[in-house]
Amino acid sequence: MAFRRAALFALLSAAVALAQSPIYGQCGGEGWTGATTCATGSVCTFSNDWYSQCIPGSATTTPSPTSASSAKAPSSSPSSSSTATASSTAPSGTPITTGFVKTNGQKFALNGADYVVAGTNAYWLAQESDADIDTAFNDIVAAGLTTVRTWGFNEVTAAQNYGAYYQSWSNGVATFNTGDFGISRFDAVVASAKAHGIHLIVALTNNWSDYGGMDVYVSQLNPGGTHDTFYTNAKVIAAYQNYIKEFVGRYANESTIMAWELANEPRCSGSTGSASSACDTTGSTINAWAQTISAYIKSIDPNHLVAMGDEGWFQEANPPTYPYAPGVGIDFVKNLQISTLDFGTFHSYPESWGQQANESAWGLQWIADHATAQVNANKPVILEEFGVTVNQATIYTGWWNEIISSGLTGDLIWQAGSVLSNGPTANDGYAVYPTGTVYPVMESAAAALKKRG
Ligand SMILES: *[C@@H]1O[C@H](CO)[C@@H](O)[C@H](O)[C@H]1NC(C)=O
Ligand SMILES: *[C@@H]1O[C@H](CO)[C@@H](O)[C@H](O)[C@H]1NC(C)=O
Ligand SMILES: *[C@@H]1O[C@H](CO)[C@@H](O)[C@H](O)[C@H]1NC(C)=O
Repeated sequence: MAFRRAALFALLSAAVALAQSPIYGQCGGEGWTGATTCATGSVCTFSNDWYSQCIPGSATTTPSPTSASSAKAPSSSPSSSSTATASSTAPSGTPITTGFVKTNGQKFALNGADYVVAGTNAYWLAQESDADIDTAFNDIVAAGLTTVRTWGFNEVTAAQNYGAYYQSWSNGVATFNTGDFGISRFDAVVASAKAHGIHLIVALTNNWSDYGGMDVYVSQLNPGGTHDTFYTNAKVIAAYQNYIKEFVGRYANESTIMAWELANEPRCSGSTGSASSACDTTGSTINAWAQTISAYIKSIDPNHLVAMGDEGWFQEANPPTYPYAPGVGIDFVKNLQISTLDFGTFHSYPESWGQQANESAWGLQWIADHATAQVNANKPVILEEFGVTVNQATIYTGWWNEIISSGLTGDLIWQAGSVLSNGPTANDGYAVYPTGTVYPVMESAAAALKKRG
């Protein structure tokens, strides 16, 4: 397997003699032939069989809580976050067991300090070159963000020689892609995130047919079946678990991953048509599926947090608007009680949800109502996608203020973009770029959230 991270770190450390790896440089792993000792002030820390890294710290000192806090970003102190205590006593070759983001009541915690989720979505990362992935993370770090949500899936039915895909399907058989345009590209995303001190939230499939998603499993294994048979068909569930075993299992000891998500925006109905009457629009079908899949993830990877990745629909008796009503098959409050789901997720797209005449006020209430559910469940809840296409600075300012004052745990904007070697990243109408007017507002909001804790 061609591990491009080796190249990445070679580049980062070009100026440093090979006798010692620089801070954040690679210092071990299968196939590694470079230096195995680390620059002064850092310790060679086992990450997985393929990768050990020089993490700041020393074998005898414990990092102070402040250095491990979420006030991590800027380049001067990249990954105070994953400092992982630079594990004092662990002999080399023993996985460190600290350094994973955990929950603590309604907060996230890392190495004993608060970990603040102030971040963005960047679904496209693995499709880019190593240099462009670095550019994107440089921008994200410079903005003071801590967390990035990205796609850990791409199902294809014909091989491709660009970008990244992780499974190719033919006649109902999935092949995990260990080739050049396969999982090594996700390794590169993880390596760059790690070098920048950013944690990743990774969704493992998609409701939408972008990048394949659920509908490829269904069409391959249950031809003619409705979208929602993704949640119930035994062959489909086994195939999805098999994918999880490969993908999640590969990164089970990688503390750069903050959390796995069962799916991006799961719903009963999908691209291939309406749901069957067997999918319960009030939520029990997806709730049962979420229990099964989240427990399965925990069984092969007890280190990482798990969340749904849904839009946060409520099931209210007298719903004021559509996202509070039965229909899509999500019961946010009930799902939050699943013991193998560690935190709640919700999205906010009032323009797409019939609230375009009232989007600012509607979004404020949507945040407040999820903050209430957070308190009731005593688990963290994050607004993990949000967007409007008009009056962004004004509306987001109001929403960010509400996040802070309501006590909501954190948020991820959809979506902070970058200008890469091939031009600006995709703009679906929501992208904000470093030179734009909304970006500085996002930076201030991240700083304010980190200050609140
Ligand atoms: C993760 O660590 C566990 C416990 O030491 C080990 O059994 C497992 O093989 C490791 N997995 C990976 C992918 O490195
Ligand atoms: C799932 O996919 C289809 C469109 O591709 C859409 O009708 C449905 O609303 C989607 N739901 C979500 C939440 O993405
Ligand atoms: C706008 O949304 C808020 C919060 O949901 C609601 O209280 C208000 O009545 C709505 N206004 C209009 C005009 O729909």
